[in-house]
Amino acid sequence: MTDSTLKLGDKDYPVRKGSVGPEVVDIRKFYGQSGMFTYDPGFTSTASCESGLTYIDGDEGVLLHRGYPIDQLAEQSSFMEVAYLLLNGELPDQGELDKFTNTITRHTMLHEQLATFYRGFRRDAHPMAIMCGVVGALSAFYHDSTDISDPHQRMVASHRLIAKMPTIAAMAYKYSVGQPFLYPDNSLSYTGNFLRMTFGVPAEEYHVDPVIESAMDKIFILHADHEQNASTSTVRLAGSSGANPFACIAAGIACLWGPAHGGANEAALNMLREIGRPERIPEYIARAKNKDDPFRLMGFGHRVYKNFDPRAKVLSQAAADVLDKLGISDPVLDTARELEQIALKDDYFIEKKLYPNVDFYSGVILSAIGFPTTMFTVLFALARTVGWVAQWNEMISDPDQKIGRPRQLYTGPTQRDYVPVGQR
Ligand code: CMC
Repeated sequence: MTDSTLKLGDKDYPVRKGSVGPEVVDIRKFYGQSGMFTYDPGFTSTASCESGLTYIDGDEGVLLHRGYPIDQLAEQSSFMEVAYLLLNGELPDQGELDKFTNTITRHTMLHEQLATFYRGFRRDAHPMAIMCGVVGALSAFYHDSTDISDPHQRMVASHRLIAKMPTIAAMAYKYSVGQPFLYPDNSLSYTGNFLRMTFGVPAEEYHVDPVIESAMDKIFILHADHEQNASTSTVRLAGSSGANPFACIAAGIACLWGPAHGGANEAALNMLREIGRPERIPEYIARAKNKDDPFRLMGFGHRVYKNFDPRAKVLSQAAADVLDKLGISDPVLDTARELEQIALKDDYFIEKKLYPNVDFYSGVILSAIGFPTTMFTVLFALARTVGWVAQWNEMISDPDQKIGRPRQLYTGPTQRDYVPVGQR
């Protein structure tokens, strides 16, 4: 919807209103009309697409999926419901949910030959390295769902990715600890099945602990989608060239791995363990504030949230509940709480509006469940796959979609003549 215009140079550009949130200046014709580019490294002021999936109000600490607040979804729904919601736009009724869950359940097995891929990795390979490789390799196995112009194939690929990610992630873990891979068990829930494939062994029956299952499901919900973050934008950019969905999701996994993004959950728990006890917190706060020290408080700060990350609020409470129900007392949680309190009262963090983000407390829960830190970002990738495929589908169906091709401000040498090596 165009309501007004903004004058740039001597031309008026349309200003578009979304359903909520800041208005957007449509500058698609700007270069053609002015001969100038806009400059916005990090896309701090740039809307790269139109989307109806997820809305964030960073000043108020609000996160909505298809209009539903994240805390309501985390407390009352299930990961399968949220996956359906993100993919289809509306919450499912019971029949739709059963059908969707059944479809996902029936796609959880991996092509048997994929198991041999794992054996090519070193035992000490980071599981995110394995995820990048194995997910990218899926396109070599599922040729009947790589035609992106066919909406049915796109949906089959989306279902396959959501369904197979827990199997791939669990196998990455099993490989690292030298235990046999477990096949999926279709009688279990999405999350219960993942826990069994990860922590079960063929020699014994595995009982899914409902406390762990529910905590894990909540973590999956909280990581399902998050607007146009770096990995989602990577998936969209890769997909904009017409690349197949498996390749696009592998690209998203690679981007997520970085410590400024999904890798922060691993880094945050490592940091909390390194701090070790509350008395050492001031030393780390001082380091985070020191411009000459590259150290940052991991799990703190966010490009969009300038208030509490609503996901961190849910996770902070969930961490206490899980530890309590499992009868675990972890000093890391005390360190996290104390660090949060000290940072929130510190002028540096107040002035820069740095609050705990989703990665600050998730590690405490994942560690209590029994995951090594190297698996944390894998779990993020597993859950975010839902958002990635939903965003990718939205992009492919968008009539305005074009190959993503940013321009630049060139500051290199101007044209000069080649000089043969002997004359330089
Ligand atoms: N500790 C100390 N100082 C910080 C921190 C932090 N965690 N985060 C930001 N700052 C400072 C930063 O030094 C800068 O100061 P100045 O203006 O004096 O140069 C100011 O705050 C703004 O930071 P920025 O890096 O320009 O902000 P950004 O929007 O580009 O970066 C961020 C956002 C998330 C990358 C950053 O806050 C950060 O590195 N946080 C730690 C890593 C982390 O927890 N990442 C997870 C993000 S949430 C989940 C996800 O995306 O996967």
